[in-house]
Amino acid sequence: MNTLLLGGTGLISTGIVTHLLARGAAVTMLNRGQRESTLPSGVRAIVGDRNDAATLARVANETRYDVVIDMICFAPDQAVKTIEAFDKRCAQLIFCSTVCTYGVKVPPGVLVDESFPQEPISDYGRNKLACERLFLDAHRTGKFAATVIRPSCTYGPGNALIDNLEFDPPTWDRMEKGLPVLCAGDGLGLWQATHRDDVGKLFAYSALNTKTYGECYNATRDEVFTWRDYYHQAAEALGTTPRLLFMPADWIVAHDPQRFVGLQEIFRYHGAYTSAKAKHDVPEFKCEIGFVEGVRQTLTDVRRRGKWKSAEGDKRMAEMVRIATALQRSPAVAGQG
Ligand SMILES: NC(=O)c1ccc[n+]([C@@H]2O[C@H](COP(=O)([O-])OP(=O)(O)OC[C@H]3O[C@@H](n4cnc5c(N)ncnc54)[C@H](OP(=O)(O)O)[C@@H]3O)[C@@H](O)[C@H]2O)c1
Repeated sequence: MNTLLLGGTGLISTGIVTHLLARGAAVTMLNRGQRESTLPSGVRAIVGDRNDAATLARVANETRYDVVIDMICFAPDQAVKTIEAFDKRCAQLIFCSTVCTYGVKVPPGVLVDESFPQEPISDYGRNKLACERLFLDAHRTGKFAATVIRPSCTYGPGNALIDNLEFDPPTWDRMEKGLPVLCAGDGLGLWQATHRDDVGKLFAYSALNTKTYGECYNATRDEVFTWRDYYHQAAEALGTTPRLLFMPADWIVAHDPQRFVGLQEIFRYHGAYTSAKAKHDVPEFKCEIGFVEGVRQTLTDVRRRGKWKSAEGDKRMAEMVRIATALQRSPAVAGQG
């Protein structure tokens, strides 16, 4: 099986490549070569920009790929470029979408499956949905078989570990130092976090699996936990216990809407999905990495890369924690502060 990833050295890409190689696939990746790659040798790298239609056309014409996996398509014009380049030039195109295409409603059975109406609330979700529709149209019109995979929160070595507030938080440093950390609401929002190596399996084993042609799949592990659990398990990985301070999401976002955009658009809402359909059609998709172990790996890698986010100098967070602590002790006094 001859495969091409648009991307390849990113977080989820790394999990995909690992499993493609384990399957014995030949793997080529197209990226700008700007990132450290931890991938084993044997992966062919083409340096180029996916937004350049001529580059895509050259890559599509030089070799026939059985499967193309587009990891870095966020807008319809990018989807159109991929579709035009690989029209009848690959058997299958796998598009990496997101659960943000569903929006924020919760079904009666709580877990969102692939039949749930897609009503995204963010530009990110709306653009990904537009891309999904373009790829599925290309499938219907015979350009190639398309498969859409929708990861939810995916973490692992190579990236920062999110908290309930933001994408690259000082929370893990605060926790390690025994300092209180903020969590939105009562910390009882539902969440899932899936390791990139587990998510990678679904992509790798959907490749040339005809059951997946024309289908969409959630890509999450089964465990659904609250943000309280998330913080407690992360703290366990750090060998500590968290001191959680709960404040309303609106209060947190109002302090810095740009910084806390993740909370505003995503983390304040339930994020609980079922991937039963994926497990049925792609039996190799078994999620085996527990969150405590995954956090250990992720934070060890963050330190190794010198990207540990220190809480020192983060005046905004220190001030928010000061007010939240005062409010817990004496709401009347803090209200005047
Ligand atoms: N992580 C999550 O929680 C999550 C959840 C849902 C969906 N997703 C989806 O996952 C995908 C991201 O996948 P990932 O984690 O593997 O990626 P990533 O960590 O964002 O890495 C991006 C990859 O694409 C390359 N790249 C970026 N811009 C490029 C360009 N213009 N031309 C060529 N290569 C480019 C990067 O290398 P260079 O910089 O060297 O070019 C790198 O290999 C996105 O589609 C995102 O929507 C992620």
